[in-house]
Amino acid sequence: MNTDPQGTLCNFLRFASVSAQPQHASDTRACAEWLSAILSDIGLEATLHETPGYPVVLGKTRRDPTKRTVLIYGHYDVQPAEPFHLWTTPPFEPTLRDGRIYARGATDNKGQILAHILGVADALSRGDLPVNVIFLIEGEEEVGSGNLAAFLETHRDALACDAIAISDTGMAADGFPTLCYSLRGIAAMEVRVFGPSHDLHSGVFGGAVANPATAAARLIASLHHADGRVAIPGFYDAVQPMAPWERLAAAESPLRDEHIATQAGVIELFGEPGFSSVERIGARPTAEINGIGGGYQGAGSKTVLPAEAFFKLTFRLVANQTPGNILDLAVAHLESQCPVGIRLEIERGHGGEPFFCDPQSPDGLAAQRALHEVFGRPPALLREGGSIPILKTFETILGCSPILIGLASPDCRAHAPDENFPVANFHSGIALNQALLRELAGTAKA
Ligand code: BES
Ligand code: MN
Repeated sequence: MNTDPQGTLCNFLRFASVSAQPQHASDTRACAEWLSAILSDIGLEATLHETPGYPVVLGKTRRDPTKRTVLIYGHYDVQPAEPFHLWTTPPFEPTLRDGRIYARGATDNKGQILAHILGVADALSRGDLPVNVIFLIEGEEEVGSGNLAAFLETHRDALACDAIAISDTGMAADGFPTLCYSLRGIAAMEVRVFGPSHDLHSGVFGGAVANPATAAARLIASLHHADGRVAIPGFYDAVQPMAPWERLAAAESPLRDEHIATQAGVIELFGEPGFSSVERIGARPTAEINGIGGGYQGAGSKTVLPAEAFFKLTFRLVANQTPGNILDLAVAHLESQCPVGIRLEIERGHGGEPFFCDPQSPDGLAAQRALHEVFGRPPALLREGGSIPILKTFETILGCSPILIGLASPDCRAHAPDENFPVANFHSGIALNQALLRELAGTAKA
Protein backbone atom coordinates (compact mmCIF):
# COMPACT_ATOMS: atom_id res chain seq x y z
CA MET A 1 0.00 0.00 0.00
CA ASN A 2 2.85 2.34 0.88
CA THR A 3 4.25 1.83 -2.56
CA ASP A 4 1.20 3.55 -4.05
CA PRO A 5 0.23 6.51 -1.87
CA GLN A 6 -1.92 8.12 -4.57
CA GLY A 7 -3.77 4.87 -5.24
CA THR A 8 -4.52 4.53 -1.53
CA LEU A 9 -5.75 8.12 -1.42
CA CYS A 10 -8.04 7.46 -4.40
CA ASN A 11 -9.51 4.42 -2.62
CA PHE A 12 -10.18 6.59 0.45
CA LEU A 13 -11.81 9.26 -1.73
CA ARG A 14 -14.21 6.83 -3.42
CA PHE A 15 -16.26 6.54 -0.23
CA ALA A 16 -19.07 9.11 -0.24
CA SER A 17 -18.70 9.60 3.50
CA VAL A 18 -21.04 12.58 3.73
CA SER A 19 -21.94 12.79 7.41
CA ALA A 20 -24.73 15.32 6.91
CA GLN A 21 -26.77 13.16 4.53
CA PRO A 22 -28.62 10.07 5.84
CA GLN A 23 -28.54 8.44 2.39
CA HIS A 24 -24.75 8.13 2.79
CA ALA A 25 -24.86 6.41 6.20
CA SER A 26 -23.60 3.09 4.88
CA ASP A 27 -20.86 4.75 2.76
CA THR A 28 -19.68 6.67 5.82
CA ARG A 29 -19.57 3.53 7.94
CA ALA A 30 -17.79 1.58 5.18
CA CYS A 31 -15.21 4.36 5.04
CA ALA A 32 -14.56 4.00 8.79
CA GLU A 33 -14.06 0.27 8.37
CA TRP A 34 -11.70 0.74 5.43
CA LEU A 35 -9.68 3.23 7.46
CA SER A 36 -9.47 0.92 10.42
CA ALA A 37 -8.17 -1.84 8.12
CA ILE A 38 -5.52 0.55 6.72
CA LEU A 39 -4.33 1.45 10.22
CA SER A 40 -4.14 -2.21 11.08
CA ASP A 41 -2.27 -3.02 7.83
CA ILE A 42 0.51 -0.57 8.67
CA GLY A 43 1.05 -2.25 12.02
CA LEU A 44 -1.07 -0.23 14.42
CA GLU A 45 -3.55 -1.59 16.91
CA ALA A 46 -6.72 -0.38 15.20
CA THR A 47 -10.15 -0.20 16.80
CA LEU A 48 -13.49 1.11 15.69
CA HIS A 49 -15.59 2.68 18.45
CA GLU A 50 -19.31 3.13 18.11
CA THR A 51 -20.84 6.45 19.16
CA PRO A 52 -24.47 7.57 18.92
CA GLY A 53 -23.43 8.83 15.47
CA TYR A 54 -20.57 7.65 13.25
CA PRO A 55 -17.72 5.57 14.69
CA VAL A 56 -14.42 6.93 15.90
CA VAL A 57 -11.40 5.09 14.46
CA LEU A 58 -8.34 4.73 16.68
CA GLY A 59 -4.92 3.43 15.64
CA LYS A 60 -2.18 3.11 18.23
CA THR A 61 1.41 1.98 18.28
CA ARG A 62 2.50 -0.22 21.16
CA ARG A 63 3.29 2.21 23.97
CA ASP A 64 6.98 2.63 24.74
CA PRO A 65 7.12 4.47 28.09
CA THR A 66 10.48 6.02 27.21
CA LYS A 67 8.99 7.86 24.24
CA ARG A 68 6.64 10.82 24.07
CA THR A 69 3.14 10.20 22.72
CA VAL A 70 1.66 12.24 19.87
CA LEU A 71 -2.05 12.14 19.08
CA ILE A 72 -2.88 12.87 15.44
CA TYR A 73 -6.47 13.93 14.83
CA GLY A 74 -8.40 14.06 11.57
CA HIS A 75 -11.78 13.27 10.07
CA TYR A 76 -13.00 10.80 7.44
CA ASP A 77 -16.35 12.49 6.87
CA VAL A 78 -16.81 15.06 4.11
CA GLN A 79 -19.19 17.88 3.24
CA PRO A 80 -22.09 17.30 0.82
CA ALA A 81 -20.91 17.38 -2.80
CA GLU A 82 -23.89 19.30 -4.25
CA PRO A 83 -24.29 21.03 -6.66
CA PHE A 84 -23.09 18.05 -8.71
CA HIS A 85 -23.37 19.70 -12.12
CA LEU A 86 -20.62 22.19 -11.25
CA TRP A 87 -18.02 19.43 -10.85
CA THR A 88 -15.70 18.91 -13.83
CA THR A 89 -15.46 15.21 -12.90
CA PRO A 90 -17.75 13.41 -10.43
CA PRO A 91 -16.97 14.12 -6.75
CA PHE A 92 -16.46 10.51 -5.69
CA GLU A 93 -14.45 9.47 -8.75
CA PRO A 94 -11.02 10.87 -7.88
CA THR A 95 -9.25 12.23 -10.96
CA LEU A 96 -5.72 13.51 -11.46
CA ARG A 97 -5.49 16.77 -13.49
CA ASP A 98 -2.69 19.32 -13.58
CA GLY A 99 -0.90 17.78 -10.61
CA ARG A 100 -3.98 17.84 -8.41
CA ILE A 101 -6.32 15.11 -7.25
CA TYR A 102 -9.93 16.22 -7.64
CA ALA A 103 -12.59 14.72 -5.35
CA ARG A 104 -14.78 15.67 -2.41
CA GLY A 105 -12.59 15.33 0.69
CA ALA A 106 -9.30 15.42 -1.26
CA THR A 107 -7.99 18.22 0.94
CA ASP A 108 -10.64 18.28 3.68
CA ASN A 109 -9.55 16.01 5.22
CA LYS A 110 -8.71 12.69 3.58
CA GLY A 111 -5.52 13.75 1.77
CA GLN A 112 -4.15 15.49 4.83
CA ILE A 113 -4.87 12.73 7.36
CA LEU A 114 -3.65 10.03 4.97
CA ALA A 115 -0.33 11.89 4.61
CA HIS A 116 0.13 11.48 8.38
CA ILE A 117 -0.81 7.81 8.20
CA LEU A 118 1.66 7.15 5.38
CA GLY A 119 4.39 9.10 7.17
CA VAL A 120 3.96 6.90 10.23
CA ALA A 121 3.69 3.75 8.07
CA ASP A 122 7.00 4.52 6.41
CA ALA A 123 8.79 5.27 9.69
CA LEU A 124 7.38 2.07 11.23
CA SER A 125 8.55 0.00 8.28
CA ARG A 126 12.07 1.33 8.83
CA GLY A 127 11.83 0.75 12.60
CA ASP A 128 12.36 4.48 12.97
CA LEU A 129 9.26 5.93 14.62
CA PRO A 130 10.56 8.34 17.28
CA VAL A 131 7.33 8.67 19.30
CA ASN A 132 4.28 6.68 20.30
CA VAL A 133 1.43 7.57 17.98
CA ILE A 134 -2.33 7.58 18.50
CA PHE A 135 -4.49 8.28 15.45
CA LEU A 136 -7.96 9.54 16.33
CA ILE A 137 -10.05 9.90 13.18
CA GLU A 138 -13.70 10.77 13.53
CA GLY A 139 -16.69 10.80 11.20
CA GLU A 140 -18.68 13.80 12.40
CA GLU A 141 -16.37 16.80 12.15
CA GLU A 142 -18.35 18.32 9.29
CA VAL A 143 -21.52 18.20 11.36
CA GLY A 144 -20.06 19.68 14.53
CA SER A 145 -18.34 16.72 16.30
CA GLY A 146 -21.35 16.35 18.60
CA ASN A 147 -20.31 12.97 20.01
CA LEU A 148 -16.59 13.45 20.30
CA ALA A 149 -16.36 15.25 23.65
CA ALA A 150 -18.12 12.35 25.41
CA PHE A 151 -15.79 9.92 23.62
CA LEU A 152 -12.73 11.86 24.84
CA GLU A 153 -14.10 11.86 28.40
CA THR A 154 -14.68 8.11 28.35
CA HIS A 155 -11.30 7.29 26.81
CA ARG A 156 -9.17 10.01 28.38
CA ASP A 157 -6.69 7.56 29.92
CA ALA A 158 -6.24 5.58 26.71
CA LEU A 159 -5.78 8.87 24.83
CA ALA A 160 -3.25 10.40 27.24
CA CYS A 161 -0.64 12.19 25.12
CA ASP A 162 2.11 14.80 25.18
CA ALA A 163 1.18 16.63 21.98
CA ILE A 164 -1.66 16.80 19.45
CA ALA A 165 -1.04 17.36 15.74
CA ILE A 166 -3.69 18.23 13.17
CA SER A 167 -3.46 18.92 9.45
CA ASP A 168 -6.89 20.33 8.60
CA THR A 169 -6.10 24.00 8.02
CA GLY A 170 -4.75 26.06 5.16
CA MET A 171 -1.46 27.34 3.75
CA ALA A 172 -1.05 31.08 3.38
CA ALA A 173 0.09 30.50 -0.23
CA ASP A 174 0.99 27.48 -2.34
CA GLY A 175 4.23 26.00 -1.05
CA PHE A 176 4.31 28.45 1.86
CA PRO A 177 4.59 26.64 5.21
CA THR A 178 1.97 27.85 7.66
CA LEU A 179 1.45 27.40 11.36
CA CYS A 180 -2.10 28.28 12.25
CA TYR A 181 -2.36 29.49 15.83
CA SER A 182 -6.06 30.33 15.99
CA LEU A 183 -9.30 29.12 14.47
CA ARG A 184 -12.70 30.66 14.86
CA GLY A 185 -15.44 28.95 16.81
CA ILE A 186 -18.89 28.37 15.40
CA ALA A 187 -22.54 28.50 16.46
CA ALA A 188 -25.33 27.34 14.14
CA MET A 189 -29.05 28.04 14.10
CA GLU A 190 -32.06 27.67 11.85
CA VAL A 191 -35.00 30.06 11.88
CA ARG A 192 -38.42 29.13 10.59
CA VAL A 193 -40.74 32.05 9.92
CA PHE A 194 -44.50 31.40 10.00
CA GLY A 195 -47.45 33.55 8.92
CA PRO A 196 -50.84 32.39 7.64
CA SER A 197 -51.94 28.78 8.27
CA HIS A 198 -51.62 27.95 4.55
CA ASP A 199 -50.39 29.54 1.30
CA LEU A 200 -52.65 32.40 0.21
CA HIS A 201 -53.58 34.13 -3.06
CA SER A 202 -51.37 37.22 -2.89
CA GLY A 203 -54.05 39.36 -4.57
CA VAL A 204 -56.86 38.21 -2.33
CA PHE A 205 -54.89 38.56 0.94
CA GLY A 206 -51.76 40.60 0.10
CA GLY A 207 -51.63 43.91 1.96
CA ALA A 208 -53.72 42.61 4.85
CA VAL A 209 -51.53 39.70 6.00
CA ALA A 210 -47.82 39.73 6.94
CA ASN A 211 -45.65 37.88 4.40
CA PRO A 212 -43.19 35.39 6.00
CA ALA A 213 -40.70 35.76 3.12
CA THR A 214 -40.63 39.53 3.64
CA ALA A 215 -40.30 39.00 7.39
CA ALA A 216 -37.37 36.61 6.83
CA ALA A 217 -35.69 39.22 4.62
CA ARG A 218 -36.18 41.93 7.27
CA LEU A 219 -34.84 39.67 10.03
CA ILE A 220 -31.81 38.73 7.95
CA ALA A 221 -31.18 42.39 7.11
CA SER A 222 -31.37 43.29 10.79
CA LEU A 223 -28.29 41.15 11.54
CA HIS A 224 -25.81 43.61 9.99
CA HIS A 225 -25.20 47.32 9.69
CA ALA A 226 -24.73 48.51 6.13
CA ASP A 227 -20.94 48.67 6.61
CA GLY A 228 -20.69 44.97 7.47
CA ARG A 229 -20.57 45.11 11.27
CA VAL A 230 -22.88 42.69 13.07
CA ALA A 231 -25.81 44.58 14.58
CA ILE A 232 -26.84 42.14 17.32
CA PRO A 233 -26.60 44.02 20.63
CA GLY A 234 -23.69 42.71 22.75
CA PHE A 235 -22.21 40.64 19.89
CA TYR A 236 -18.72 42.11 20.18
CA ASP A 237 -18.65 42.50 23.98
CA ALA A 238 -16.41 39.46 24.72
CA VAL A 239 -14.11 39.87 21.70
CA GLN A 240 -10.39 40.00 22.54
CA PRO A 241 -8.60 42.52 20.36
CA MET A 242 -5.54 41.35 18.43
CA ALA A 243 -2.14 41.84 20.06
CA PRO A 244 0.26 44.19 18.23
CA TRP A 245 2.44 41.22 17.10
CA GLU A 246 -0.64 39.64 15.55
CA ARG A 247 -1.44 42.69 13.49
CA LEU A 248 2.17 42.65 12.32
CA ALA A 249 1.97 38.94 11.41
CA ALA A 250 -1.28 39.62 9.53
CA ALA A 251 0.29 42.54 7.66
CA GLU A 252 3.25 40.34 6.68
CA SER A 253 1.12 37.38 5.65
CA PRO A 254 1.76 36.19 2.10
CA LEU A 255 -2.03 35.93 1.84
CA ARG A 256 -2.94 39.30 0.30
CA ASP A 257 -6.27 40.95 -0.46
CA GLU A 258 -5.84 40.47 -4.20
CA HIS A 259 -5.32 36.71 -3.70
CA ILE A 260 -8.39 36.46 -1.53
CA ALA A 261 -10.44 38.31 -4.15
CA THR A 262 -9.15 36.07 -6.94
CA GLN A 263 -9.77 32.86 -4.99
CA ALA A 264 -13.27 34.04 -4.11
CA GLY A 265 -13.99 35.20 -7.66
CA VAL A 266 -15.12 38.68 -6.59
CA ILE A 267 -14.20 42.06 -8.01
CA GLU A 268 -14.23 43.80 -4.65
CA LEU A 269 -13.85 42.57 -1.09
CA PHE A 270 -16.27 43.65 1.62
CA GLY A 271 -16.14 43.46 5.41
CA GLU A 272 -15.94 45.14 8.78
CA PRO A 273 -14.23 48.55 8.60
CA GLY A 274 -10.84 48.95 10.28
CA PHE A 275 -9.48 45.49 9.53
CA SER A 276 -7.60 43.86 6.66
CA SER A 277 -9.17 40.84 4.98
CA VAL A 278 -6.76 38.45 6.72
CA GLU A 279 -7.82 40.00 10.04
CA ARG A 280 -11.52 39.93 9.14
CA ILE A 281 -11.27 36.23 8.31
CA GLY A 282 -9.08 35.12 11.21
CA ALA A 283 -9.64 37.47 14.08
CA ARG A 284 -13.11 38.97 13.79
CA PRO A 285 -16.47 37.30 14.42
CA THR A 286 -19.18 37.14 11.77
CA ALA A 287 -22.79 36.23 11.07
CA GLU A 288 -23.38 34.42 7.77
CA ILE A 289 -26.59 33.30 6.12
CA ASN A 290 -25.90 29.80 4.71
CA GLY A 291 -29.31 29.13 3.22
CA ILE A 292 -32.59 30.89 2.64
CA GLY A 293 -35.91 29.72 1.29
CA GLY A 294 -39.65 30.14 1.12
CA GLY A 295 -42.35 30.75 -1.45
CA TYR A 296 -42.44 29.73 -5.05
CA GLN A 297 -39.12 28.48 -6.52
CA GLY A 298 -40.27 27.11 -9.90
CA ALA A 299 -40.30 28.57 -13.41
CA GLY A 300 -42.26 31.70 -14.21
CA SER A 301 -44.36 33.72 -11.80
CA LYS A 302 -46.79 32.56 -9.14
CA THR A 303 -48.87 34.99 -7.12
CA VAL A 304 -48.66 33.32 -3.77
CA LEU A 305 -48.26 34.69 -0.26
CA PRO A 306 -46.29 31.82 1.29
CA ALA A 307 -47.25 30.39 4.66
CA GLU A 308 -43.64 30.08 5.73
CA ALA A 309 -40.01 30.85 5.01
CA PHE A 310 -36.72 29.85 6.61
CA PHE A 311 -33.08 30.72 6.88
CA LYS A 312 -30.02 28.91 8.18
CA LEU A 313 -27.16 30.81 9.70
CA THR A 314 -23.83 30.29 11.40
CA PHE A 315 -21.81 32.67 13.50
CA ARG A 316 -18.01 32.44 13.47
CA LEU A 317 -16.63 33.26 16.88
CA VAL A 318 -13.35 34.52 18.29
CA ALA A 319 -11.96 34.45 21.83
CA ASN A 320 -13.73 34.94 24.28
CA GLN A 321 -17.15 34.51 22.66
CA THR A 322 -18.99 31.26 23.42
CA PRO A 323 -21.54 29.50 21.21
CA GLY A 324 -24.16 29.46 23.98
CA ASN A 325 -23.87 33.15 24.73
CA ILE A 326 -23.88 34.19 21.07
CA LEU A 327 -26.97 32.07 20.32
CA ASP A 328 -28.73 33.65 23.36
CA LEU A 329 -27.95 37.13 22.02
CA ALA A 330 -29.07 36.20 18.50
CA VAL A 331 -32.36 34.66 19.67
CA ALA A 332 -33.14 37.72 21.81
CA HIS A 333 -32.35 40.02 18.89
CA LEU A 334 -34.41 38.10 16.31
CA GLU A 335 -37.38 37.89 18.67
CA SER A 336 -37.18 41.62 19.36
CA GLN A 337 -37.21 42.27 15.59
CA CYS A 338 -40.02 39.85 14.75
CA PRO A 339 -42.70 41.68 12.72
CA VAL A 340 -46.37 41.73 13.79
CA GLY A 341 -48.36 38.78 12.48
CA ILE A 342 -45.28 36.52 12.28
CA ARG A 343 -44.23 33.67 14.54
CA LEU A 344 -40.65 32.34 14.75
CA GLU A 345 -39.38 28.89 15.56
CA ILE A 346 -35.68 28.97 16.28
CA GLU A 347 -33.65 25.80 16.46
CA ARG A 348 -30.18 25.94 17.96
CA GLY A 349 -27.60 23.86 16.11
CA HIS A 350 -24.05 22.68 16.72
CA GLY A 351 -21.40 24.80 18.36
CA GLY A 352 -17.65 24.89 18.85
CA GLU A 353 -15.50 27.24 20.90
CA PRO A 354 -12.90 29.48 19.28
CA PHE A 355 -9.30 28.28 19.60
CA PHE A 356 -6.16 30.26 20.25
CA CYS A 357 -2.67 29.05 21.20
CA ASP A 358 0.86 30.37 21.53
CA PRO A 359 2.86 29.66 18.35
CA GLN A 360 6.07 30.11 20.40
CA SER A 361 5.26 27.35 22.91
CA PRO A 362 7.70 24.39 22.87
CA ASP A 363 5.31 22.39 20.62
CA GLY A 364 4.68 25.46 18.46
CA LEU A 365 8.42 25.96 17.99
CA ALA A 366 8.88 22.26 17.18
CA ALA A 367 6.18 22.62 14.50
CA GLN A 368 7.85 25.77 13.13
CA ARG A 369 11.17 23.93 12.82
CA ALA A 370 9.52 20.97 11.07
CA LEU A 371 7.72 23.29 8.62
CA HIS A 372 10.94 25.19 7.92
CA GLU A 373 12.82 21.93 7.30
CA VAL A 374 10.26 20.54 4.84
CA PHE A 375 9.42 23.71 2.90
CA GLY A 376 12.81 25.43 3.11
CA ARG A 377 11.61 28.64 4.69
CA PRO A 378 10.19 29.81 8.00
CA PRO A 379 6.43 29.42 8.29
CA ALA A 380 3.83 32.16 8.24
CA LEU A 381 1.91 32.45 11.51
CA LEU A 382 -1.74 32.73 10.63
CA ARG A 383 -5.14 32.97 12.28
CA GLU A 384 -7.65 31.21 10.11
CA GLY A 385 -11.37 31.57 9.82
CA GLY A 386 -12.62 27.98 9.61
CA SER A 387 -13.54 25.91 12.64
CA ILE A 388 -12.56 22.56 14.08
CA PRO A 389 -15.17 22.34 16.80
CA ILE A 390 -13.30 19.92 19.09
CA LEU A 391 -10.04 21.89 19.48
CA LYS A 392 -10.85 23.57 22.76
CA THR A 393 -12.19 20.30 24.18
CA PHE A 394 -8.87 18.60 23.39
CA GLU A 395 -7.23 21.20 25.59
CA THR A 396 -9.66 20.82 28.47
CA ILE A 397 -9.86 17.01 28.44
CA LEU A 398 -6.41 15.90 27.23
CA GLY A 399 -4.49 18.89 28.52
CA CYS A 400 -2.52 19.72 25.39
CA SER A 401 -2.96 22.45 22.88
CA PRO A 402 -3.28 21.16 19.29
CA ILE A 403 -0.62 22.11 16.71
CA LEU A 404 -2.27 23.09 13.41
CA ILE A 405 -0.02 22.40 10.43
CA GLY A 406 -2.41 22.37 7.51
CA LEU A 407 -1.68 21.65 3.86
CA ALA A 408 -4.78 23.05 2.18
CA SER A 409 -3.86 25.07 -0.89
CA PRO A 410 -5.61 28.44 -1.22
CA ASP A 411 -7.14 26.97 -4.41
CA CYS A 412 -8.32 23.72 -2.84
CA ARG A 413 -12.05 24.57 -3.10
CA ALA A 414 -12.87 22.83 0.16
CA HIS A 415 -16.66 22.45 0.62
CA ALA A 416 -17.18 23.51 -3.01
CA PRO A 417 -17.32 21.84 -6.44
CA ASP A 418 -13.92 20.73 -7.81
CA GLU A 419 -12.30 20.27 -4.40
CA ASN A 420 -8.71 19.21 -5.01
CA PHE A 421 -5.42 18.42 -3.31
CA PRO A 422 -2.08 19.09 -5.03
CA VAL A 423 -0.06 15.87 -5.23
CA ALA A 424 2.95 17.95 -4.10
CA ASN A 425 1.14 18.83 -0.84
CA PHE A 426 0.37 15.16 -0.28
CA HIS A 427 4.06 14.28 -0.50
CA SER A 428 5.09 17.30 1.59
CA GLY A 429 2.53 16.13 4.14
CA ILE A 430 4.22 12.75 4.44
CA ALA A 431 7.61 14.44 4.92
CA LEU A 432 6.09 16.95 7.35
CA ASN A 433 4.64 14.17 9.49
CA GLN A 434 8.08 12.63 9.84
CA ALA A 435 9.86 15.93 10.52
CA LEU A 436 7.24 16.90 13.08
CA LEU A 437 7.40 13.61 14.95
CA ARG A 438 11.21 13.87 15.08
CA GLU A 439 10.96 17.42 16.42
CA LEU A 440 8.31 16.52 18.95
CA ALA A 441 10.37 13.56 20.10
CA GLY A 442 13.25 15.89 20.73
CA THR A 443 15.38 13.70 18.51
CA ALA A 444 15.67 16.04 15.56
CA LYS A 445 19.17 16.47 14.21
CA ALA A 446 20.49 19.97 14.84
N1 BES B 1 -10.83 21.90 7.67
C1 BES B 1 -11.96 22.63 8.08
C2 BES B 1 -11.64 23.78 9.00
C3 BES B 1 -10.79 24.87 8.40
C4 BES B 1 -11.08 25.38 7.16
C5 BES B 1 -9.76 25.39 9.09
C6 BES B 1 -10.31 26.38 6.62
C7 BES B 1 -8.97 26.39 8.56
C8 BES B 1 -9.24 26.90 7.31
C9 BES B 1 -12.98 21.73 8.74
O1 BES B 1 -13.09 20.46 8.15
C10 BES B 1 -14.32 22.38 8.56
O2 BES B 1 -14.71 22.62 7.46
N2 BES B 1 -15.02 22.62 9.63
C11 BES B 1 -16.35 23.13 9.58
C12 BES B 1 -16.95 22.87 10.92
C13 BES B 1 -18.43 23.04 11.02
C14 BES B 1 -19.19 22.30 9.98
C15 BES B 1 -18.88 22.64 12.42
C16 BES B 1 -16.37 24.60 9.22
O3 BES B 1 -15.42 25.33 9.56
O4 BES B 1 -17.32 25.03 8.59
MN1 MN C 1 -14.39 20.90 6.25
